[in-house]
Amino acid sequence: MALCGACTVHVNGAPARSCSTPLSGAVGKRITTIEGIGQTKEASLAVRVVENDVPQCGYCQSARS
Ligand code: FES
Repeated sequence: MALCGACTVHVNGAPARSCSTPLSGAVGKRITTIEGIGQTKEASLAVRVVENDVPQCGYCQSARS
């Protein structure tokens, strides 16, 4: 349903939700995933996600007390 944004990738530099993007919409375009951001300033986000065991979307996570 493309509600959480956890699957966001860049398609030709623009954000797109990969779970709702048809493959035909990606053919021939430059796709960048969170793993592909390398040493850019955005890489710190990927590091923090891994360090904190962030769930993909949190839909099934229980609330914190
Ligand atoms: S918006 Fe794609 S997995 Fe949530």
